[in-house]
Amino acid sequence: MCASMMVAERKRTVYLSVMLLYLVLLDMPHTAHSIYPRIRLSHKELWQLNRTWVFQGHGASLQPQTMLLDESHERLYVGAKNTLFSLSLDRVNAHHREIQWASTESQVEECMMKGREKPECANYIKVLQQHNQTHLLVCGTGAFNPVCALVGVGHTGQDRLFTLEEESVMSGRGRCPYDPNSSCTSTLSRGELYIGLYTDYWENDGALCRLNNQTYTRTERNDRQQLNEPKFVGSAVIPDNDDRDDDKVYFFFTEREMDAEGMNKAVYARVGRVCANDQGGQRMLVNRWSSFLKTRLICSVAGPNGIDTHFDDLEDVFVLNSKDEKNPEVFGLFSTTSAVFKGYAVCVYHMDDIRAAFNGPFAYRERPEHHWTPHEDRVPYPRPGSCASKVNSGGFSSSKEFPDEVLRFVRSHPVMYRSVLPQHHRPVLLQTEPGRRKLTQIAVDRVQAQDGHYHVLYIGTDDSVVLKVITIYNKDTDTMEEVLLEELQVFKLPAPIRELIISPKRQQLYVGSEVGVAQVKLHQCDLYGSECADCCLARDPYCAWDGLTCSRYYPAGVYTKSRRFRRQDVRHGNAVQLCNGLQIDDEQWQRAEERLVYSVESNSTLLECVPRSLQAKVLWFVQKGGEKHEVRGDERVIMTSHGLLFLRVRSSDAGAYVCQTVEHGYVHTLLRIRLHVLKGERVESAMHAANDGEGEKATAPCHSSTGPLPGPSISPRSLVPSSVSGSHSRLWYKEFLQLIGYGDAQRVEEYCERVWCSDKKRKKTKRKYVPLGGEKRGKGRGEENSHRAPRHTLDT
Ligand SMILES: *[C@@H]1O[C@H](CO)[C@@H](O)[C@H](O)[C@H]1NC(C)=O
Ligand SMILES: *[C@@H]1O[C@H](CO)[C@@H](O)[C@H](O)[C@H]1NC(C)=O
Ligand SMILES: *[C@@H]1O[C@H](CO)[C@@H](O)[C@H](O)[C@H]1NC(C)=O
Ligand SMILES: *[C@@H]1O[C@H](CO)[C@@H](O)[C@H](O)[C@H]1NC(C)=O
Ligand SMILES: *[C@@H]1O[C@H](CO)[C@@H](O)[C@H](O)[C@H]1NC(C)=O
Repeated sequence: MCASMMVAERKRTVYLSVMLLYLVLLDMPHTAHSIYPRIRLSHKELWQLNRTWVFQGHGASLQPQTMLLDESHERLYVGAKNTLFSLSLDRVNAHHREIQWASTESQVEECMMKGREKPECANYIKVLQQHNQTHLLVCGTGAFNPVCALVGVGHTGQDRLFTLEEESVMSGRGRCPYDPNSSCTSTLSRGELYIGLYTDYWENDGALCRLNNQTYTRTERNDRQQLNEPKFVGSAVIPDNDDRDDDKVYFFFTEREMDAEGMNKAVYARVGRVCANDQGGQRMLVNRWSSFLKTRLICSVAGPNGIDTHFDDLEDVFVLNSKDEKNPEVFGLFSTTSAVFKGYAVCVYHMDDIRAAFNGPFAYRERPEHHWTPHEDRVPYPRPGSCASKVNSGGFSSSKEFPDEVLRFVRSHPVMYRSVLPQHHRPVLLQTEPGRRKLTQIAVDRVQAQDGHYHVLYIGTDDSVVLKVITIYNKDTDTMEEVLLEELQVFKLPAPIRELIISPKRQQLYVGSEVGVAQVKLHQCDLYGSECADCCLARDPYCAWDGLTCSRYYPAGVYTKSRRFRRQDVRHGNAVQLCNGLQIDDEQWQRAEERLVYSVESNSTLLECVPRSLQAKVLWFVQKGGEKHEVRGDERVIMTSHGLLFLRVRSSDAGAYVCQTVEHGYVHTLLRIRLHVLKGERVESAMHAANDGEGEKATAPCHSSTGPLPGPSISPRSLVPSSVSGSHSRLWYKEFLQLIGYGDAQRVEEYCERVWCSDKKRKKTKRKYVPLGGEKRGKGRGEENSHRAPRHTLDT
């Protein structure tokens, strides 16, 4: 057993206890959801399915800070520590190019003289923008001395060029933070860089800025009413109407609310905005925004006691553009600010609601210890916060022409009275169970299905996992339903996901974490199963049953010429209705696989049956002497997620068992198992028979003698080769026996060895040499790895 397995094992124990906790705490009535994904794929399985490629740089930790998708050059740029990478969008781990851009030795020395640690004194590339068709703007922390430069990438189709233009290197002050850990967000529009960052070495001056080579416009310095300890999360330029002069730049951030003594208190999520064409004022607010306003973003759930739970810490924002560029949808991933209870929520905001808040009353309070009230007096003209435009706002051609009164007002009233409420006034997704993984990033794809549009949410976690989720709003009951489609462990080692970028064109997801950059196909429909019901129950809007397989769904008119009727029901997953014509219960019964399992009296035995879907409910039936009844389980016969576990088999347990799943009312017969119970004295001979038959396929589970059999997931079309699944089961089984107090570790071990017919002797010696804890690559993995093709090696 190798170290990573030990880790996995430990994790699973933790998982089990968390599960128990969850069952106790399951009391969120607002959202119907399953904590089980329909499909869960490990990193290894993703590899074996050709679903992913991973770029790892030069082995040392990559530490990507920012990524930029460039479809026209078919490249993904990755700003990392001392290096800028250009990766192929087809395969991130093939034909990469890189620019080494480290700080000079004297810069590093100087940085360390200022009292910084060596790892901080490197050039972390944190700003990466498309300057124009042929050049990128790249900025790094430069060992606490920010630098920027232009990188030539050539014209479209000319993808060989990738050079840093030495003569373009310039100071990055005001364009890039000093500290690699500092939050920062930037967006580039019409040649101008908009950026939210801390502009100084000591991180005192958080600012929202715009730079071009003539002017620098920003929020006021040291004005806590404008920004108070901001954390910058996202930004986007969004037009208001067809008049480009009305374009607004939106910034998403969190900050602290001030109280009477100027002491910091609650953290709030904010949306702030400025006019893209804001030139500042002429006499006052020179080089300062004359249009900066902000308001609160609310993401909360009503509690049973009338007290709302607020999610105020903004972790990430995704602006989902649509054909109507004026009305993208804004997805916010929030967490609670409480140190005790860490919950997460995703809320969706419409631009109409955001604009309505900015068009509503300004907030006013006499003194910091007073409550905010709506400002009810006269508001000067043009309305503070509006953009100078020949068409609107009375024909001012520049903000420099605005009356002083307007500038004074906007300076003293930056906060709007109304907050922005999310769509349906509630989160579309909630994770409130204590102890579960942290959510770090969000990206969203809009997918056309047969019954409408769906938003597929990709959510990155702190342990290398990407969750693929759809959320469905039910108008009649005013509830949200979450459907967790897939849980993908993108990286082998657990690390927080730092970046998620979708290429809808390529149907790929690009994922960045300190251990690498991965690409993952957005969908792999055939994994859901080979039958209509499997496909339909999956409710994946990318997939539909085409009469033969579960395959990619294309809306009518795209590829439909040769396509027959496609079956898909994302909203309800009603397989009974959609697939009934194809499924007759009797036929299903006959078609279900039948297996033989021999067990020894008084021993424990697992009748393994693992549904493909983790969301399915499993039912067991037993047929003894013509009578058929459901197995309910008791303290001796336990229904587990891997099958039916007999702690001590009796001869009266012998019989024909049927494993069925029910999902959305759809009943599916997975497996029939005929259990034979042997008397004690026959054991030894049975064991011998098993060991003799083993030979070269040392780790394959026995298919004919003492042990339980691999479940139906291990069929020729299965997700993973049986040896992988076998070892998984073994681990799980062992752990389970231990968990339920089958205390004798030695005996459990022995039992598992027998059950899986593995080579006891080799296992034991192997275990001796494998260190606990630290990961040892290529050591002690033996057969688990032998089926991995050489081209799967991680290193490039
Ligand atoms: C993955 O790709 C390789 C080579 O293209 C192929 O041999 C293998 O069968 C593929 N695996 C799966 C599960 O499709
Ligand atoms: C992009 O910008 C660079 C630097 O300002 C300039 O040299 C180059 O000609 C520009 N390219 C295009 C296509 O405008
Ligand atoms: C950045 O954060 C990491 C982990 O939280 C920490 O180890 C490191 O010291 C921090 N670096 C700086 C410059 O604050
Ligand atoms: C930047 O400055 C250069 C030279 O001063 C000028 O040619 C160029 O047009 C300016 N670019 C922008 C975007 O203003
Ligand atoms: C199974 O039964 C045999 C014979 O009764 C016994 O020797 C053996 O220890 C049992 N194994 C377990 C794991 O209970």
